[in-house]
Amino acid sequence: MNKVFIQTYGCQMNVADSDEMFAHLAARGAELTDKLEEADTVLINTCTVRDHAEHRAVSFLGRLAAWKKEKPGRVIIFAGCAAQRLGEALQKKYPFLDILSGAKGIEHFAQTLDKSGLFSHQDHPGQTPAPGLTGYVTIMRGCNFACTYCIVPSVRGPIKCLPVDDILQDAARKAAAGAKEIMLLGQTVNAYRDGDVSFADLLNRVSEVPGVERVRFTSPHPIYFTPQFLAAVKDNPKIARHIHLPVQSGSTKVLQEMKRGYTREVFLDKIHALRACGFNISTDIIVGFPTETEEDFRQTLSLVDEAKFFIAYCYKYSPRQGTPAAEMKQLEQKVLEERLDILLNKVRGLSDAAYLTQVGTVQEVLMETPHKGRSSGNFWVKTSKAHPVGSLVRTEIERADGTLLFARD
Ligand code: 5AD
Ligand code: SF4
Repeated sequence: MNKVFIQTYGCQMNVADSDEMFAHLAARGAELTDKLEEADTVLINTCTVRDHAEHRAVSFLGRLAAWKKEKPGRVIIFAGCAAQRLGEALQKKYPFLDILSGAKGIEHFAQTLDKSGLFSHQDHPGQTPAPGLTGYVTIMRGCNFACTYCIVPSVRGPIKCLPVDDILQDAARKAAAGAKEIMLLGQTVNAYRDGDVSFADLLNRVSEVPGVERVRFTSPHPIYFTPQFLAAVKDNPKIARHIHLPVQSGSTKVLQEMKRGYTREVFLDKIHALRACGFNISTDIIVGFPTETEEDFRQTLSLVDEAKFFIAYCYKYSPRQGTPAAEMKQLEQKVLEERLDILLNKVRGLSDAAYLTQVGTVQEVLMETPHKGRSSGNFWVKTSKAHPVGSLVRTEIERADGTLLFARD
């Protein structure tokens, strides 16, 4: 039996892609292991969105030289976004690498395996792991935007949406295998369209799949949250009341230079409209974009005050070769570090404040352990009684302690 160890870097799309790649390996007789020493194959699925992520993946690959030397028949597969960006150069630098499969090649991964001659179809396929409480379903890949800091469009290519029937089948399979929550995935997930079927239609259709209690999605782009979208989803309680909506900057000038396609005011209007339908909003913010002035940065701080995010993930701008922003005159690292520190201080208390707003409300909690689960808005809730894992418990929230809610139940 060929044992496969998987190391995944980056976003949830990569986690789903790793599952998909493993399914092809399983069809060729492989099974999973979480021990590198006993593995025959290592699959590294990589991220290149920031230099740091790429660096971690490549240094893991470098460390595998010794692992491979121990048993030369071992196989190393380097896949995903960093594989796409670095390409053949990587094969030259690490000659012990067996298979390179860029993010654009995920659809042809099975052929790549077959072409390598290292794997062959088996009568007894390996087991693929059950989905757990959340089933990840990729609905689209790629991105048609061209945000000036971002490497994604060049490594993932333009948008390709999966057919709605395939998505519904995938969700049904995962629900039948025990998933209660379906997470729809895509780089600009709410740009989804298949013929007449809009993203809102798809959310509603997935929520009707037998066994599906809750539908989440990530990551959307603000411009697609239209009044039509809100009207189509607002009465469907199965659509989770949490949205991760990256803003990137609070300065309209910087947003324009980033080519984000919205102003500060438009973003704030969108989140107010989403809030009015009960959605809890988290975000991503980049500090130190090359043209960001002190005043622009102050605008980001004030947007954080105004928007009352649930969580804000904050990143130092990282130049990505080939993107327009990487060609601009860069700010000093010291400035990036100072701004990140100030921003992190500001966002630290956000979650506690958001948790407090839940006290006194009635929530449906999807139990992840007998005493703990998540509400539709993605808040952690501790129940006083034990409940079956995977059940939905409707209960009032009595109090909050940091980032934990306590239920009456
Ligand atoms: N530098 C820093 N952060 C980046 N992101 C994307 N590209 C870069 C970059 N070049 C961040 C954005 C995005 C998140 C996934 O990563 O905030 O929303
Ligand atoms: Fe990158 Fe912008 Fe596309 Fe998001 S919308 S993947 S930030 S180019």
